[in-house]
Parts: sequence; structure tokens; C-alpha cells
Amino acid sequence: MKNESHQPQQEASKRRKNQNPTHKGKGERKLIGMAKKHQIVLGIWGIRSSFRSLIALLLTILIITAVYLSQDSGRFFENRTNVELSQCNLFSGKWVFDNQSYPLYKEKECTYMSDQLACEKFGRKDLSYQNWRWQPHQCNLPRFNATVLLERLRNKRLIFVGDSLNRGQWVSMVCLVDSAVPPTLKSMHTNGSLSTFKATEYNASIEFYWAPLLVESNSDDPLNHRVPNRTVRVKAIEKHAKHWTDGDILVFDSYLWWRRPTMKVLWGSFESPDGIYKEVEMLRVYEMALRTWSDWLEFHVNRSKTQLFFVSMSPTHESGEDWGDGENCYSETEPVLKEEFWGSDTDPKTMRVVENVLDDLKTRGVDVQMLNITQLSEYRKEGHPSIYRKQWEPLTEEQISDPSSYADCIHWCLPGVPDVWNEFLYAYIVHQ
Ligand SMILES: *[C@@H]1O[C@H](CO)[C@@H](O)[C@H](O)[C@H]1NC(C)=O
Ligand SMILES: *[C@@H]1O[C@H](CO)[C@@H](O)[C@H](O)[C@H]1NC(C)=O
Ligand SMILES: *[C@@H]1O[C@H](CO)[C@@H](O)[C@H](O)[C@H]1NC(C)=O
Ligand SMILES: *[C@@H]1O[C@H](CO)[C@@H](O)[C@H](O)[C@H]1NC(C)=O
Ligand SMILES: *[C@@H]1O[C@H](CO)[C@@H](O)[C@H](O)[C@H]1NC(C)=O
Ligand SMILES: *[C@@H]1O[C@H](CO)[C@@H](O)[C@H](O)[C@H]1NC(C)=O
Ligand SMILES: *[C@@H]1O[C@H](CO)[C@@H](O)[C@H](O)[C@H]1NC(C)=O
Ligand SMILES: *[C@@H]1O[C@H](CO)[C@@H](O)[C@H](O)[C@H]1NC(C)=O
Repeated sequence: MKNESHQPQQEASKRRKNQNPTHKGKGERKLIGMAKKHQIVLGIWGIRSSFRSLIALLLTILIITAVYLSQDSGRFFENRTNVELSQCNLFSGKWVFDNQSYPLYKEKECTYMSDQLACEKFGRKDLSYQNWRWQPHQCNLPRFNATVLLERLRNKRLIFVGDSLNRGQWVSMVCLVDSAVPPTLKSMHTNGSLSTFKATEYNASIEFYWAPLLVESNSDDPLNHRVPNRTVRVKAIEKHAKHWTDGDILVFDSYLWWRRPTMKVLWGSFESPDGIYKEVEMLRVYEMALRTWSDWLEFHVNRSKTQLFFVSMSPTHESGEDWGDGENCYSETEPVLKEEFWGSDTDPKTMRVVENVLDDLKTRGVDVQMLNITQLSEYRKEGHPSIYRKQWEPLTEEQISDPSSYADCIHWCLPGVPDVWNEFLYAYIVHQ
């Protein structure tokens, strides 16, 4: 069976050669001869060996063979590390403890580390959360090389747009390149919602733009955004987008700020007194906002120069019963070992909205690569700052007596999980 399945391929390639007009007569004779040989086989299906149906059959066999071989090669290459990255599902894999290669940088040595993420600095003693490497099943992630990335970013802007999780990923990216750039050749500058790290020698910038709901909202102030009546202008994005439209590589996220049953939507502007407000079911508003975002990309982004990414939902670990102990991520020191673990904080319906919007954008010629980090980050219940971060407000006695009550199980310690998200980004930016 297997030997036979190779034959149509050889025959087809002969046939292709024979399509050259000068050889036509010979080729036809040969094919008719072949057809006769195949009559016995074809007889099984009761197909008369007319010339056209033979060609159709040969093509069908060829396609079936191709599909069969490509499936087979998936199995065959499973343990080969040189599978083409473009062929490899980077997001399917496992965490491997590797304190030789990880962390990729030291918390203390990163010039621009954030106090919200500096868990060691704020007293965390168990540091193994820094030592986990993501091992895809089919291939290896390329080793992060800051010089190579900066070269790729020469005269370019890499911009992260979104909420505090995306900001964490941006800080991670800055820390990943920081040590490769001497102090006099870099700068950090914040202007309103936009923070810019610049490697001046390369004229490369790695930026973060605060827009937690992507569209305009009353939470757009980069510092003072904790308002009780969260409201979005679901059709308005230009105020934000004009700051990032000409970026060369754009990395978006938006999920955390939508986690509520309904959202207040404003038609009109925040300034005008006659705006129309309406409370709308969250999934609907989320989809409307992503449509506004995707329409903007379709009409304003230069497809031939811009690389686009969307980071899927970052899981939170606020429900200890999901893995069977503790209140939440507080005092966790090991990843979840259960395969395919999926926490109750993570809503697949919301993720599907993003997938649909990205699929739809693709049909309109705009490719956005999803960084599918949800499942793999689900395992990392121990990766959050918990209580080891700067507390912006003094703790109450009640909180101090119950540390899990104020544990941050949303953001991620650095070095840590977001470094791996950036390794995916690196793989796509440098190796594709
Ligand atoms: C691939 O390697 C893993 C361990 O490294 C092994 O368990 C698995 O059986 C191998 N798979 C194949 C198809 O050889
Ligand atoms: C994301 O990755 C997980 C783990 O490999 C997989 O189960 C899931 O289907 C992927 N989702 C998408 C949208 O590709
Ligand atoms: C790495 O981990 C192993 C096992 O936990 C430990 O014995 C070793 O000392 C660690 N090495 C470093 C460099 O931390
Ligand atoms: C990073 O890449 C540069 C340029 O290709 C190379 O010279 C250097 O050795 C690499 N660094 C590491 C740590 O691999
Ligand atoms: C520096 O990079 C910016 C993009 O960030 C680009 O617009 C500008 O032309 C670059 N400057 C030079 C001298 O190439
Ligand atoms: C800050 O951003 C505003 C609006 O984009 C711009 O007009 C202004 O020149 C910027 N200021 C600095 C110091 O870059
Ligand atoms: C939100 O509430 C604050 C007071 O809590 C009020 O000043 C503001 O106008 C409200 N904003 C909207 C958009 O409703
Ligand atoms: C889009 O980017 C390409 C590559 O940088 C450039 O050649 C082209 O002029 C740009 N198109 C527009 C409309 O700006």
C-alpha cells in the first residue's frame, strides 16, 4: 500500500514534464499505456479507464498522498528540534524547570523594573518562579538574543497597546534588552499615556500605550483610572490610535477590564452634556469595541510594513478550589501539574469573540497573529506577585491578618511568565 502510494507522484511528475508541447504525442502515448496498466486496479471501483477520469483519479490519489504524508511528517518530526517555526505550534508544550538558562535577566539589574512586578525586591523568598522554561512539543523556542532583536528594530517602533498586563509584558521586553544597551545609549520617557524606551544607537523604540479597553473610555488616564462607573465610547478609537498607527510592530491586549456582566456605553463625547448612556451586556460591548479596533486596522495600518499581534487572555488565579488548595495564588510555589488545566476565572466565550474578530480581519487582508498564552499561563499559579509588590495604600489590620485578601493574582512577577510571552514575540519578529 505504502509503495503504491508513491507511484502516482512519480507518474504525475513525468506527466508534468510531458506537458511540454514538443513531447505531447509521446506523453499521451505513455499515459494511455499507463492507463491500460491501471485498468485492473481501476476495475475495482468500476471506473472505465477513459483518459480524463484517469487524470482526475491520479490527481485525487496525489492529493490524498500529499495529505497523508503531511500528517505523517507531523508524527515523524515530533522530536526534532529543527521543525520550521512556522510549522510549529509554539503554544502547545510544557513547563520545564531550568535554572541553568533562566531567568533571562536579574530583577535587580533591570534599570526599568516596575515596583508592581519586582517580587524579590518586595520580600518573596521562593524564587523558583523565575526558573521555568516553556518547551513546545514540536520544536524549541529560539534563544532570546537582545542584539539580534535590536538590530531587527533598527529605525522602528515596537508598541504594546493595552492594559496593565500588556504593560507588564512591555516591562519584561525592556528588561530583556536592557543589559545589552549601555546606560548612555538608552532612555526612558513618559508623555501621558505613552511610555517610550529608546535604544539610541539603533534608533529603536519599545513603547507602551495605555488603553485598557482599546477604545475610548473614562479609564484612559494612565495613572488615575480607577473610576466606579466604567464607561466606554465603543465607536471611538482615534484619540488613542493616532499615537500608534504608524508603529512597525503592534502588540495588543484587552480583557481584564471587561470582566463584568455589563458595561456602560456612551454615544456622544465625555465632554458634551447630551451624550446617550446605555448599560449593555459585556460580550456585546466587547465585540463592538474589537470591531471598532479591527476596522481601524483595516483602513489605517500599512499592511506591508506593520506586524500585528494580539495577546490572548492572561489567566488570573483567584480561586484556589480550581487546583484544590488555598484561597488563591497566595503562598503558591509550584505550577499546576494537571495537564490541560483550565481555571474558572477564564472565560472561553470572551476568547472566542477575539478569535472571530481576528478571523474576520484575515478575510479582509489583515493578519493579526494571536499570541495564544492563556492555556500555558494557566499552569503558573505561583507566578503572580501575590503580596510581594509595592502596596500603594497602607494595609489595614484586617488585611495583614489575612494576606490572601490583598494578594495580586492577576499580574506576573518579573523575571517570569511574561518573559516567555516575549520569547514567542521574538520568535515571530526575528525568525519569520
Ligand atoms: C519524544 O520524546 C519524548 C521524551 O523526550 C518521548 O516521551 C516521546 O515518546 C518521543 N516521541 C516520539 C514520537 O518519539
Ligand atoms: C491555544 O493553545 C491551546 C494549547 O495548545 C489550545 O488548546 C487552543 O486550542 C489554542 N487556541 C487557539 C485559538 O489557537
Ligand atoms: C538548580 O536546581 C537544582 C535542583 O533544585 C539545585 O540542586 C541547584 O543548586 C540549582 N542550581 C542553581 C544554579 O540554582
Ligand atoms: C547574539 O547575536 C549576536 C549577533 O548574531 C552574536 O554575536 C552573539 O554572540 C549572540 N549572543 C548570544 C548570547 O548568543
Ligand atoms: C528613527 O526611527 C523613527 C521611527 O521610530 C523613524 O521615523 C526615523 O526615520 C528614524 N531615524 C532615522 C535617522 O532613520
Ligand atoms: C507629548 O505628547 C503630546 C501629544 O501627543 C505632544 O504634543 C507633546 O509634544 C509631547 N511632549 C513631549 C515632551 O514629548
Ligand atoms: C462617573 O461618576 C463620577 C462620580 O463618581 C462623575 O463625576 C462622573 O461624571 C461619572 N462619569 C460618567 C461618564 O458617568
Ligand atoms: C507602506 O509601507 C511600505 C514599506 O515600508 C512602503 O513602501 C509604502 O510606501 C507604505 N505605503 C503607504 C501607503 O504608506
